[in-house]
This record gives sequence, C-alpha cells and structure tokens, in this order.
Amino acid sequence: MSQRRILLAVTGGIAVYKSLELTRLFKKQGADIRIIMTKSAMAFVQPLSFQALSGHAVHFELLDTEAENAMGHIALTRWADVLIIAPATANTLAKCAHGLADDLLSTLYLAATCPIYIAPAMNHVMWHHPATQTNLKILQTHGVHFIAPESGEQACGEMGIGRMAEPNTIYQRVIADLTMLPILKNLNVIITAGATREPLDPVRYLTNRSSGKMGYALAAAAQKTGANVTLISGVTQLSTSGLHNFVQVETAEEMHAAVFEHIENCDIFIGAAAVADYRPIESPNEKIKKNADQLMLVLQKNPDILADVAALNLPLFTVGFAAETHNLEHYALEKLTRKKLNMIAANWVGREEGGFERDENALEVFWHNGQKTLAMTEKTELAHQLIELIAEQFYAKK
Ligand code: C5P
Repeated sequence: MSQRRILLAVTGGIAVYKSLELTRLFKKQGADIRIIMTKSAMAFVQPLSFQALSGHAVHFELLDTEAENAMGHIALTRWADVLIIAPATANTLAKCAHGLADDLLSTLYLAATCPIYIAPAMNHVMWHHPATQTNLKILQTHGVHFIAPESGEQACGEMGIGRMAEPNTIYQRVIADLTMLPILKNLNVIITAGATREPLDPVRYLTNRSSGKMGYALAAAAQKTGANVTLISGVTQLSTSGLHNFVQVETAEEMHAAVFEHIENCDIFIGAAAVADYRPIESPNEKIKKNADQLMLVLQKNPDILADVAALNLPLFTVGFAAETHNLEHYALEKLTRKKLNMIAANWVGREEGGFERDENALEVFWHNGQKTLAMTEKTELAHQLIELIAEQFYAKK
C-alpha cells in the first residue's frame, strides 16, 4: 500500500489536544501527515507540538509568500488523499457551510477535491442550536463525512453531546475508508437512489420521504472498491461531486428507461431508490384549479424497475431494499422470492432511530441461504459493510 497523505486541519477548541494523539496515530501507521492550524487553535496548543509529531512545519497563513512558494493552498489540497477537520468548531462549520474563504482552512475547504472528514467539537447548547444543525445539513449536501461528537461531561463542566470523537475512532474510520480493497474492480454496478416525483400537474407532484443518502453512500463505497458505478437518481439535495456516471431522472418511468438504457453489461444492480408505486393517471398541462370541494385522483401502477431487471434473466446480481413498518423479515423474504432477487436489505421505518431522512441506519440483509444483521451506524459506514457483503455473495454465486 502506498503512503497515505493526510491533511489535518485543527481549529480552536479544547479538543485540540486530542488531535496531537490523532497525528501520532497516523504517523505510527506510516502516513505522511501535514497540519493546518487556525489562529484560535494556536491559542490552545503551540504549532511546535504538531511540527514535532508530524515532522513538518505547520501551515497557518493564507497569504504567506514563503509557504505559497513551498506548497501553496491549492497544491496542499491536490497533494492530500484526505482532508480531516478535527476538532471543527461551530465557527468553522458555519464558514465552510457558507463558502467563506477568509483564512487558510476555509479556503482549502473550497479548493479541496479529496474526501473531507469533519469531527465537530463544541458545547452541547451550541451543537443543538438551529444555526449549527442547519450548517451540518448544508455540509452534508457537500458530501462531507461526519465523525459524530460523543456525549458526556464537557470541558466546560456541563453534560451533553459535543465532545469530539476519540482520536482512535477518527483514525479507524479514515483508515478503513482509505484501505477499502478493490473487491469490485472493473465490475459495472448500477444503483438507483432517492425518491421519484410523479407529476399531478405542472406545479405539484407525489413523492415520498426518501433522501437518497443510502443510495449515494453505496455509490461512493462501490466506487472506492474499484467498480464502474452508474448512479441513477431521483431529485435529491445531495452532492454528485466525485461520482463517475450520474443520471438525473424525475419519474419512475424515466428511472425505468434510464436503467434499461444502461443495463447491458451490468454485473450488479442495486435498487436503493424509493420508487413511487403509483403515478397520477393524468397529468394535465395546466395547473389544477381549486374549485371542487373534493378531488379524485386516479392512480396508475408504475413499473417495478427491480423486478423487471431481475426478470431479464441476465447474468447479473440483483439487490433490493425493503423499508417496512412491521413484519420486516416476512416482507423482506417475500420480496426476495417474488421479485426473484439475489439479496434484499431490509430496514425499519417510522422508528425513532435510522431510516428515511436520517444519517444512520441498520439493515437486516437476506439472501437465499443466509442472513446478516448490519448494526445501527452512519449510512456511509453501513454502505461499506453492505458493499462488502454484496461482493462476497456475488463471488459466491459465481
Ligand atoms: O415492493 P417494494 O416497493 O416495497 O420494493 C422495494 C424495492 O423495489 C426497492 O429496492 C426499490 O428500489 C424497488 N422498486 C423498484 N421499482 C418500483 C418499486 C420498487 O425498483 N416501482
């Protein structure tokens, strides 16, 4: 394995001391790690400590002629395999979310093309503030990977969520992503994601609560394992940056057509989209007027994309999803058989944790002579685990 190039950005919170340990962990693994500090980070820890541990001078000036000659801010991001911001203060989250570029770190964030990991750290009231929560949502649409803060006693003496994840948690997460084996190298993978929109008229549509996060995470994970991925997606708020082949669709019929256009030579088909089962039978060109007290909608069943793909009898491996509110195993197994799939990943919806619109989920995965539980975790991590399981069963079937 080649030497990993880690760019660690440290911002001004008491958790800065933990990033010294994080630097040491990467160094011990043999990585080349370079450090950026914000002005307030330097109020907590001297740059010299990071210099001694990383073996390189710390970067902190945006407009430093000497630094620009050696390795300027654009060159730094091009050099890195990964950018980690840990600890990330509420201020840094806000700046990155809104695209400010008034210091080295915020400028690097905008210039980065590598994967970005953010480990927030702040007081629990600041964490729960709607401004911070909105910024986290915005950052998610940029494709950032979050390493969630932990709960417990905080430096200020208060109890709550906001303590930066432990250095080993951050280290393990980044290393696991960087060392994904090329288990799907050169295989063609098609993934459907997100909700479809079924127009009622030019203004309104029927849809559902799927965010597309699971499908997008699967596409990123499959790409990391060397697959040639085509993501066919309904309208979502998610970033498509870094995806090799992306097809935007709106309706179930458009998704069906796009899938069939790309299905030739496909090795693995993953139907993660929440496709509308029905569409309005009519969708007039003019806006429906608010005249009658009651309005009847007549719906027409949509094609089942996944079942139609499986029915092609091509030598491909098909994976479906089943989101259920009750009898999870029963319905999942029924879909596995009825749609003639190779694998089905089932999850609960309507429960407190996980599911639609959430960042976390858990899955019960079934195939013809096996089953595995993937425990509640972030969808990005869950996607890696599911891709590994798909690869295992894909080769077992062959
Ligand atoms: O039958 P149900 O909709 O619950 O099955 C869910 C699975 O089938 C998901 O994998 C989904 O992507 C897929 N599906 C599809 N086309 C439809 C409906 C569902 O591909 N019209």
